[in-house]
Amino acid sequence: MTQPTSRTRVAIVGGGPAGLMLSHLLHVAGIESVVLDTRTAEEIEATHRAGILERDSVRLLAESGVSGRVLAEGHEHQGIELRFAGTSHRIDFQRLVGASCWLYPQTEVFLDLHRARVRDGGDLRYGVASTEVIEVLDRARVRYTDLDGLRHEVVADLVVGADGSRSATRALVDPRRQYTREYPFAWFGVLVEAPPSAPELIYTRAPSGFALISRRTDTVQRMYFQCAPDEDADAWSDDRIWSELQTRLAGDDGFRLQEGPVLERTVLPFRSFVQTPMRHGRLMLAGDAAHTVPPTGAKGLNLALADVRVLAECVERALLRGDDAALDTYTDRAVARVWRAQHFSYWMTTMLHRLPGATDFDEQRQLGELTSLVSSEAGSTYLAEGYTGWPQ
Ligand code: DHB
Repeated sequence: MTQPTSRTRVAIVGGGPAGLMLSHLLHVAGIESVVLDTRTAEEIEATHRAGILERDSVRLLAESGVSGRVLAEGHEHQGIELRFAGTSHRIDFQRLVGASCWLYPQTEVFLDLHRARVRDGGDLRYGVASTEVIEVLDRARVRYTDLDGLRHEVVADLVVGADGSRSATRALVDPRRQYTREYPFAWFGVLVEAPPSAPELIYTRAPSGFALISRRTDTVQRMYFQCAPDEDADAWSDDRIWSELQTRLAGDDGFRLQEGPVLERTVLPFRSFVQTPMRHGRLMLAGDAAHTVPPTGAKGLNLALADVRVLAECVERALLRGDDAALDTYTDRAVARVWRAQHFSYWMTTMLHRLPGATDFDEQRQLGELTSLVSSEAGSTYLAEGYTGWPQ
């Protein structure tokens, strides 16, 4: 059987937000790309992820021409509440650093990007099978099986692995170094049908562990609480979930969450991971394929968007101006931000979660750290800077 071959400039493996944003930025620069994904667009749309965008992520979506919907329909958050020892403390981002973040779920970001690529005639091949990068040195070659079972080959100048935390492309980087940190806990995430309980996000540290109260719409809310990594989400009744959340949020101020039916429940894994370099020959990695962060602080999507912004610039210089040396700068430029975000996510996580086997000393030290943070202008500013995102 003949094998259809297509030629493009950049083959992008992975059609999530990182792959689509890169394809969009390349399109704006006049560079053609093909996006391949073994999932269907509907499957990706149905995956619930974090909901917070840094200031520069919002700008990127709006100013690069993806969509202004984030500004019209997203919710600007000018601060967050840190809650511990039964009291809330507001971190006022606008006052401290003159920046905000936006509550705009990742599913909406995906929808905007997908619509923008379809609008602009992008070559998107979702639902393919057996994607395989077979050459990355002299040129890039990727094979996949289409919906009719036919094997295809895409030949490109460059290939980008944006294939997520279970990336297959990252194994092609050789030699590579991997840095990993596992955590002895996870998050129990729920979508609930209830009115919002608070205008801003609440990050809580309670004696029984962490909880986060986030929002989605006027009638659906997103909440998380720390649980064991092997927790069986289906073993929890709605009543037990609400009782756990209410206990973690309880305080002298009498705060109560607004309750309602639990629509969806999942246990989210916790892991810090970095692989370097992010480039090998004609292959570049972006987003979760190269690094994952624990969810506290919602850095994952923001970091992926920061990667592709740098990567698009390097690719543009290499393919439009023949400056191949630009590709050599990608790892160092991207990794500097990756480690800042790794530290921030690790710091937020360890400051707010209960470690199994924690002693009284550990607990009091953690409260000492939180008290220092909220009572110090410098401490609060440090949190505000990291949360809203360091300038590019
Ligand atoms: C959300 C998730 C996070 O991990 C976070 O830090 C803030 C918000 C969310 O899903 O809304």
